[in-house]
Formats: sequence, C-alpha cells, structure tokens
Amino acid sequence: MTQSPLRLGIVGGNRGGRFRRLLSGADERIRLAAICDLREAVVAEWQAAYPGLAGYTDYDRLLEDPSIDAVLLASPMLLHASQAIRALRAGKHVLSEVIAAHTLEETWELVETVEQTGLVYMLAENYCYERESLVVRRMAEQGLFGELTYLEGGYIHDLRHAVHAPDGSLTWRGELHRDYDGLNYPTHSIGPIAKWLGLGKPGGDRLATISAFTSPSRSLQRYYRDKFGAGHPAARDGYWRQGDSAVAQLVTERGVLVTLRVDWTSARPHNMHQYALQGTEGAYVSRRHDGESDLVWIHGRSPMEPPPWGGEPEGRWEPLEKYRERYDSPLWRRLEEEAGEGGHGGSNRLVVEEFAAAIRDRRAPAIDVYDAAEWSCIFPLSVVSREQGGAPVAVPDFRRKDRRDEE
Ligand SMILES: NC(=O)c1ccc[n+]([C@@H]2O[C@H](COP(=O)([O-])OP(=O)(O)OC[C@H]3O[C@@H](n4cnc5c(N)ncnc54)[C@H](O)[C@@H]3O)[C@@H](O)[C@H]2O)c1
Repeated sequence: MTQSPLRLGIVGGNRGGRFRRLLSGADERIRLAAICDLREAVVAEWQAAYPGLAGYTDYDRLLEDPSIDAVLLASPMLLHASQAIRALRAGKHVLSEVIAAHTLEETWELVETVEQTGLVYMLAENYCYERESLVVRRMAEQGLFGELTYLEGGYIHDLRHAVHAPDGSLTWRGELHRDYDGLNYPTHSIGPIAKWLGLGKPGGDRLATISAFTSPSRSLQRYYRDKFGAGHPAARDGYWRQGDSAVAQLVTERGVLVTLRVDWTSARPHNMHQYALQGTEGAYVSRRHDGESDLVWIHGRSPMEPPPWGGEPEGRWEPLEKYRERYDSPLWRRLEEEAGEGGHGGSNRLVVEEFAAAIRDRRAPAIDVYDAAEWSCIFPLSVVSREQGGAPVAVPDFRRKDRRDEE
C-alpha cells in the first residue's frame, strides 16, 4: 500500500535551508509543505524558490494549518521546547534541532507531552549519524573495544561571528553567552557517545551525575573590543557570563566516566570531530585536523611493535578506515550508492529519513524524547553544578515514570 508523503513545515529559514533540498522532491516519502520564519523576506525567498509553498510569519498560524503533518524546528535554540510542546498539542509530529530544551521544567513537560499525545518526537542530532560515529558504534556494539570505561566528546567551534548582527546587537547565540554559564550546547558532544554506550537501551546504563566547570570569559569581550571598540558594552568586564570553555565530568550509573567540552567562542580552526573512547579491549580517538584519520587500536588485532628505543612490543594505532569495510553503516553505503548528500556529509538526510520512517512505522525514532531529555538537560544541570563550584548534580531518570514525583 502506498502512503501519502509526510507534509512537513520548516520553522526557521537559515538552518532550515540545509534541509530544503532533502525535502523538495529528493525523497518521495517527505514533502516540503510550508516555511515559517519571523522575517517576511525569508518566507518570500523560500516561496519564490518553491512556488505553492505555504508561508507563515506566525508559528501559531502554521500549527492551525490542517495540511501540515509535522514540523522541523530550526528556530533559535531557546524556543525549541515550547514550540515542540505546542506542535505536539496541535497534533503535529516534531523533528527538533538541537538542543531540545534549556530548563528542567520544560524538559519534563516535553517528555510528558510526547507520552500524552503518542506522536513522534525526534531530536535532529546529526552528529550521531556521521559515518565515523556509526562505524565506531557498530564496533562498540559488537564488543571490539570490550567494556567501555571512559569517553570524551567535544564541540569546539569558533562561532564568534554568529553571536552578533552586523550592528553588534546580539543574536540568540549572543544572548545565550550573555545570560548563562554552563555547557550550553551539549548534544553534539554527548549524542554519539550515548549511542556507543547504549544509554537508555532496556537494561542499559544511564547518566547519573554531572559536575561542571567553566573557564574565564575572555574571548567575546576581546572580540567585541577589537570589532566594535572599547566603549561597546559587550567589551566591558562582566558583560558575558559564559566562560570560553565549559567542561563537564559525567558519571554513569555503572561508573563509566564521560568528559564533555563545549567552546564556541575561542579563536581556533574548526574541527567537528572531538571524540575519544577507551574500553578494556581497545581505544578510539577521532582526528584532530581535517586530512588526518580517526585512529583505533584493538587488542589482538592491531599491530604490536617494539618501540624505536627497543623493549617490549607496544600497540600501534590504525586508521579507522581499515575497519570501515566491515563495520560501515548500511545507511551510509546506500547514501554512497545514491550519491545524494545533504550538509554535514549526509547525516541530515539520514536524520530526516529516520523521522519519516518512525512516523510511517508508528514506532519510536532512533533519537527519541528520552535521549533528547537526557542529553539536553546537561545544559541546565551544568549551570547549577558550576554555580556550586562543580558539585555533582543528579541527572533525572526521564525514562522511569514512577520516579518523576521525586525529582
Ligand atoms: N545540527 C546542527 O549541526 C546545527 C547547525 C546549525 C544550527 N543548528 C540549530 O538550528 C537552530 C537555528 O540556528 P541558525 O544558525 O539557523 O539560527 P539563525 O538565528 O541564523 O536563524 C534562525 C531563524 O529563525 C527565525 N526565527 C526566529 N524566531 C522565530 C520564531 N518564533 N518563529 C519562526 N522563526 C523564527 C529567524 O528569523 C531566523 O531566520 C538552532 O537551534 C541551532 O542550534 C544546528
């Protein structure tokens, strides 16, 4: 039986633009049906590119449109939870950009609304769908690394230019750095790691505590001084709350250590891959620069050689590509065959396909609301921990309904 395509409205025309091509005919199961953006010019530009596309500048009007089945929230981050909750209550499935929510109250409300409505909610955490990430996940699931004991994830991306408009006024990213001090964008860091660890799987592990620390806040002040002059309010001491680097130490219920870092204002070249994994039988480190290889070492498989100075043989790293042939994701093999890739090397496309498949098959998506809650609450909890000098703060168990009243 053929099903009619999912009619999707995109909210937020900048990041939303990354999904435009994916949704405009490339995949017959999903159809781009509407654009919503506060700015009329953005809506007009989309409608010029896609004649017949419904356009809205008011999100609540979009939600009243009965011809829309689902929304993709690519709006500023602090709007995601409230927009998702309203969409679900209006009967629309939700694919939300990261992060899902920025307060604990909203996180719980989001979880409960998904449960009450029975609709599909998925977090569009595209880093989980990066090819290397999926290879490492398969290797971890098949036990090549043994028992995982320690992991690292980082999102370190110089986005100083994106904290302000040309006149120096703050964008949502700027407001985030002015108003909070914590790990304000944790899901790119924790998402892949959570999948490698199998967090949230039946009988699996979960995040238990978080301790967070932030460095001095220097880079944005300096950047504003250079760009807008020493008299600009944002060039003065105390204007920015957010420290340049935020680091969190998480411990899972089973004692696995997870170290996360978020920094999007320090001056340095971008590198999206900032991961490490240690198990009892092997280890993985992502590349530190473009053009390098991700590296793995697997006990009993990877070479052992005496060091140049002699002595006992020691393990030698191998490029991850050596293992790709065997552990590659079938999703990526198919994408390669089709040679149709979106931004972020095709991971966006895999996210959208998974969302549509979950709706079609009436099942939970691969990154469900519990994953979204567990990963996103790192932000508000990190703020609390940092205020308490890095004291460990408990991570709620969003999957255990009977414990909600205690949280
Ligand atoms: N997954 C990724 O790799 C990735 C990459 C970039 C951005 N993002 C996420 O995408 C989201 C948007 O980021 P961006 O860089 O496009 O931001 P942006 O500020 O450049 O664009 C946001 C757009 O949303 C519109 N908007 C603002 N309020 C709105 C509202 N109430 N209703 C409808 N539209 C509204 C704005 O007019 C603007 O066009 C953020 O949550 C960000 O975290 C994710």
